[in-house]
Amino acid sequence: MFDVEAVRGDFPILQRTVHGKPLVYLDNAATTQKPVAVIDALVEYYEHYNANIHRGLHTLAEEATARYEETRAKVAGFVNAPATEEIIFTRNATESINLVAHAWGRKYLRRGDEIVLTVMEHHSNLIPWQLLAREVGAVLRFVDIDDEGRLLRDDWERLIGAKTKLVAVTHMSNVLGTINPVKEIAALAHQRGALVLVDAAQSVPHLPVDVQELDCDFLAFSGHKMLGPTGVGVLYARRGVLEGMDPFLGGGEMISKVTLEESTWNELPWKYEAGTPNIADVVAFGAAIDYLRGLGMESVRGHEVDLAGYALEVLGRIPELVIYGPREAAGRGGVIAFNLGDLHPHDVGTVLDSYGIAIRAGHHCAQPLMRRLGVVATGRASFYVYNRRQEIDALAEGLREVRRFFGRATHS
Ligand SMILES: Cc1ncc(COP(=O)(O)O)c(C=O)c1O
Repeated sequence: MFDVEAVRGDFPILQRTVHGKPLVYLDNAATTQKPVAVIDALVEYYEHYNANIHRGLHTLAEEATARYEETRAKVAGFVNAPATEEIIFTRNATESINLVAHAWGRKYLRRGDEIVLTVMEHHSNLIPWQLLAREVGAVLRFVDIDDEGRLLRDDWERLIGAKTKLVAVTHMSNVLGTINPVKEIAALAHQRGALVLVDAAQSVPHLPVDVQELDCDFLAFSGHKMLGPTGVGVLYARRGVLEGMDPFLGGGEMISKVTLEESTWNELPWKYEAGTPNIADVVAFGAAIDYLRGLGMESVRGHEVDLAGYALEVLGRIPELVIYGPREAAGRGGVIAFNLGDLHPHDVGTVLDSYGIAIRAGHHCAQPLMRRLGVVATGRASFYVYNRRQEIDALAEGLREVRRFFGRATHS
């Protein structure tokens, strides 16, 4: 049984008030709060074994190196990567995707090659490919969605073809909550000779993800969206693919031998980790993974399906509220984007904040999706392990208050 009250007790920030009201934090798709274990791990690192890693021979350096590499092993286990060398630490999911665009894309893509994306991609899984396409003359193709925000199967089956070199797709939309059939997409892409990158920024934190089962070539996600500190991203990539790529950034630990004229590269994974890494945050990210493993990702997912189902039901009763994305909680994540009549989401978000309720309002770094939905922006409530049904009730009550507050505006 998932004990949400016990979980809440581990997050000090949930004790605070906002405008005199208890904090209702529903902006987890942007970033999540941190449990005591993660905060303690950061403090412990700085108080007890702060040192630069890999190069030092002294005790502190050895301890810091061990803890940093321990997190890599934990991450590999968490997504079931076959080897720890296939886990690269970056600053965030965005950097992980940019790493692939630079180190793989520039080396292997040529004029006329195609990259298949979807209309629901976060800018982080769009702009790197736009930049690359412009540089090498590649062509971007986009899979469209149906009325409930699901990818059109006919579209991806048609668009992934002989010219496709890469399919880069989000596992879970940060707006619609749609969970995409990335395993099936990967199978087709591989049949047609393309590699597959999964933007897992919204999936790894919320459901069990197994890179071997998905059979993807690249998988990118961010630690701060899964209870870890900011400043840590992960790129999983198949060993063979990583070996065939050139470095992304140069300098620091990524070399083997350097002369004035040329250099050779370190082994995996360090070939892709130039300069002093974010040691403290990587170490503390290890504590976040331990915490999630303690809860169990099946339970995390179950809890969010419950919250999403409840939210769809409760919010669905509010007049003039339009909800985007799949209607069934089982096919989506705990992310609910909505609009309330013709009110601007910023106004809705500001009034909700006055009740202590934190949601996101805007384009959610998915402007093409906003255009596809025919809106400029939406509100977005997104849930995590510490959210409760009564917070969704508070959101619903807040939205009713917003309607009353702007009464004239909604009816004029
Ligand atoms: C689907 C998706 N991809 C990528 C990102 C980028 O994550 P980060 O800003 O941590 O790089 C986000 C963040 O909101 C996201 O939701």
